[in-house]
Amino acid sequence: MKAILLAGGKGTRLRPLTIHTPKPIVPIFDRPFLNYQLDLLKRVPEIDGVVLSLNYQPRRIEEIFGDGGDTGFAIRYVVEPAPLGTGGAVRYAGESLNESVVVLNGDVLTQVDLGAVIALHRERRAKATIVLTPVENPSAYGLVETDAQGNILRFLEKPKPHEITCDTINAGIYVLEPDTFDRIPKDVSYSIERAYFPSLNERGETFVAYVDRGYWIDIGTPEKYIQVHRDMFEGRFSAGLYQGVDSRQPMVSPEARIDDGATLTGPCFIDAGAHVKTDAEIGPGTVLGRGVVIEDGAKLQNTIVWPNTRIGQNAIIDGPILGRNCHIGRNVSITGRAVVGDKTTLTDYTHL
Ligand code: GDD
Ligand code: MG
Repeated sequence: MKAILLAGGKGTRLRPLTIHTPKPIVPIFDRPFLNYQLDLLKRVPEIDGVVLSLNYQPRRIEEIFGDGGDTGFAIRYVVEPAPLGTGGAVRYAGESLNESVVVLNGDVLTQVDLGAVIALHRERRAKATIVLTPVENPSAYGLVETDAQGNILRFLEKPKPHEITCDTINAGIYVLEPDTFDRIPKDVSYSIERAYFPSLNERGETFVAYVDRGYWIDIGTPEKYIQVHRDMFEGRFSAGLYQGVDSRQPMVSPEARIDDGATLTGPCFIDAGAHVKTDAEIGPGTVLGRGVVIEDGAKLQNTIVWPNTRIGQNAIIDGPILGRNCHIGRNVSITGRAVVGDKTTLTDYTHL
């Protein structure tokens, strides 16, 4: 059985972080996001191949995963000539398939039991089965109404406030039958949410829901991106970061360097090659990527720092996400949710 990962979006809501790093590979702690999805797929022995459906900066993604090697999957890349939308992308990537296929939005993180979703799909002989998750406000998602037997009655993408009739939304995880793909037009943008799913209802086909009440998040905004890290720190999502280390304690790579006099207060995460100098303070909620340097006396909390960024002496930083290869000058102060793109230089004493 194959899985298609829809990983071609531009990640506009995560800009500027996604200018040089497509959303599917933004780092979550020390690994590209897609690795967490591959972990989920790995739990289903039947899935033996993964198709990455790409459009935006495909090379950067291919460079990381190659032919699949370490991931344990054979990975195939399908790059659309132009963005085909979620439905067009599924057809384009699934052209040669003739058995049920698992499809995942490339930005959702969950621990749903995929094996059970596939089993339900088969038991119900469904044309499509989708995972639903309850959320407080469905307006940013696809609202899905079901009956008591788990049949989907209506799929409404991005409902207006007065259209919200329930709290279950599309979690971005499907099992689909490729014999339905010929209804997806070729070579034009086509939405699986706005057109393909409603077509199943219009045709009276078996369209089934699997409701999962476990952890679920879409990492597509800076708030959610920070939230994922918080959830992993606090154990709401178990990512097995450093085996055996309590995620609420400082997690420090054996290849990081922490100078005498520096203080670390958990939860925090310091990756290989990072260097925290004397009198620096790394506080709760901080993630330092590979090769990050924190100069003497700098104080950080609730901050995510991507690889190879340098934070100057006595800087005080609380709340932002800082991209790769930034140079934050000495005595800079940043408070609140700033999102700073790669290679930014902040002159000494800048306040943000
Ligand atoms: N290959 C390809 N081509 N992938 C695409 C394209 C495209 O043209 N457009 C979007 N994608 C990928 C994105 O990279 C992302 O992984 C996924 O499809 C969904 O797109 P988003 O842009 O993240 O959609 P959304 O978050 O607004 O809404 C979707 O996800 C929600 C759950 O997070 C919908 O599926 C909603 O119904 C759903 O509730
Ligand atoms: Mg999304």
